[in-house]
Amino acid sequence: MEELKKIAGVTAAQYVKDGMIVGLGTGSTAYYFVEEIGRRVNEEGLQVIGVTTSSRTTEQAQGLGIPLKAVDDIDSIDVTVDGADEVDPDFNGIKGGGGALLMEKIVATPTKEYIWVVDESKIVDHLGAFKLPVEVVQYGAERIFREFEAKGYKPSFRETEQGRFITDMKNFIIDLDLGRIDNPVAFGKELKAMTGVVDHGLFNGMVDKVIVAGKAGVTILEK
Ligand code: A5P
Repeated sequence: MEELKKIAGVTAAQYVKDGMIVGLGTGSTAYYFVEEIGRRVNEEGLQVIGVTTSSRTTEQAQGLGIPLKAVDDIDSIDVTVDGADEVDPDFNGIKGGGGALLMEKIVATPTKEYIWVVDESKIVDHLGAFKLPVEVVQYGAERIFREFEAKGYKPSFRETEQGRFITDMKNFIIDLDLGRIDNPVAFGKELKAMTGVVDHGLFNGMVDKVIVAGKAGVTILEK
């Protein structure tokens, strides 16, 4: 599995050219993409500016010497490469397994070419077997949790050994155990309309290309 993630990440790096502004994703697959960009910066003199999607990726990119800018300081991003937890045939997906969904969506939005890197286990017929992360502000989070419970969404607060998981943006994550999401677009709108919900892990129709690494080789799905 680790090998497939590496293949997907390194394959995506070929879309990055000199002079580009590049969104750097988060997670164990995007990790390999960032490593490869770092290698090219150091060994081949690749000139890029990175925009990161989490504090973790910022640390990694800084360690590799990739020049960075904040998303507020650029007009657009040429290409962003990120991981995903599930991808359906309509190019809808779930992200946020690593808790970085909000920054990831903020970086994805001004991106011209948005690419996901996944191993073949992430390709599904229907979204929802993976618990859907919802980022909520801390104030009033218990009320939102109870509302999710009442709707039958089987919520759980994301926890760490030190207590509740807190995102880079200082919010909580509530994971919804939905089993199957029949209409991701409608469901995303429903969640977004709830006061206190900052964003959710449904990335509907945002991705342009999905690089899928499987045992039989690499497949590139294009929208
Ligand atoms: C981070 O919050 C996520 O959106 C990741 O991009 C996603 O969970 C995929 O991560 P892996 O590549 O580690 O499976």
